[in-house]
Amino acid sequence: MESITSKVLYNRELAPGLFTIGLEWKGVSVLPGQFVMLRVSDSLDPLLRRPFGVYKVLSSKSVKSTGAFKGSGIEVLYSVVGRGTALLAARVVGDSVGILGPIGNGFPLPSKKQKLIMVAGSVGTAPFYLLAKKLGRDSTLIVGARGVEARALARDFKALKCRIEIATEDGSVGTKGLVTDLLKKELLKEKSESSVVYACGPTGMLRAVTAVAEAAGVEAYVSLERSMACGIGVCLGCAVKGVPHEPRPGRPPEYAMVCSDGPVFKGSDIEWENL
Ligand SMILES: Cc1cc2nc3c(=O)[nH]c(=O)nc-3n(C[C@H](O)[C@H](O)[C@H](O)COP(=O)(O)OP(=O)(O)OC[C@H]3O[C@@H](n4cnc5c(N)ncnc54)[C@H](O)[C@@H]3O)c2cc1C
Ligand code: FES
Repeated sequence: MESITSKVLYNRELAPGLFTIGLEWKGVSVLPGQFVMLRVSDSLDPLLRRPFGVYKVLSSKSVKSTGAFKGSGIEVLYSVVGRGTALLAARVVGDSVGILGPIGNGFPLPSKKQKLIMVAGSVGTAPFYLLAKKLGRDSTLIVGARGVEARALARDFKALKCRIEIATEDGSVGTKGLVTDLLKKELLKEKSESSVVYACGPTGMLRAVTAVAEAAGVEAYVSLERSMACGIGVCLGCAVKGVPHEPRPGRPPEYAMVCSDGPVFKGSDIEWENL
């Protein structure tokens, strides 16, 4: 993990409130599903860095021995939801942005026999781009969004070997409804028992996706989103109960930290009623 001061290479609005920011980071090495903590302003206000998945590695090379992508920078896909993300959206080319990372375990690579189904709620698509690229064979991405921004969320995946299904709340793109409706259909298809489901998005969606996968007898892995203060396993602010993890001194043994033990966990290990 590194702590660096990076420069903004670009910061583009893809759809209202949906941005990608390119950040310089020479020699960066990232596993699919890892994230970074970004300092979104030059001052100490807001004090806390904000967590974001690594969407792309710029000028990347895949390193076979480690499974990581090495490159000269990262791209983060983000939506503006509050003050921190609004400040990030105001950063311009050449501005400084502090980065701490890469952090977390990332997604395990599915076995050759497993069919990967990725389920993303809005910017939950972010950690799946590198994963689908790494996999390099047929996979399915189910994207859920409020409306037309779904097109921007899915666009980059078209260049990968990825079949895309979209569910929107207003029915403006794809099917009107929920990602879990599309997931149920996908799992009803032949040989669903050889599928594995990976999900990233709001907690309610992750809970529902895990339940649908379990009902079909399929393993689900989820990338959890918790509010994070430190991002390095110290403040205990992102604790989740009941998930297997390496016990560490000074921590209650029954709790795992999403930042340092996750963010990816088996959905069946999580005590959803406590989240
Ligand atoms: C591991 C991880 C990876 C993430 N990856 C991305 C990403 O790739 N792109 C992206 O747009 N967002 C991502 N997020 C969520 C992102 O961190 C929050 O949207 C951001 O911190 C909000 O900051 P803010 O100051 O704009 O909002 P705030 O003013 O802090 O909060 C605005 C609203 O967002 C909610 N919120 C704040 N932080 C989180 C959080 N960590 N998880 C869930 N809800 C939150 C608050 O409850 C509130 O309702 C990720 C979160 C985690 C934990
Ligand atoms: S954010 Fe501090 S322990 Fe995870």
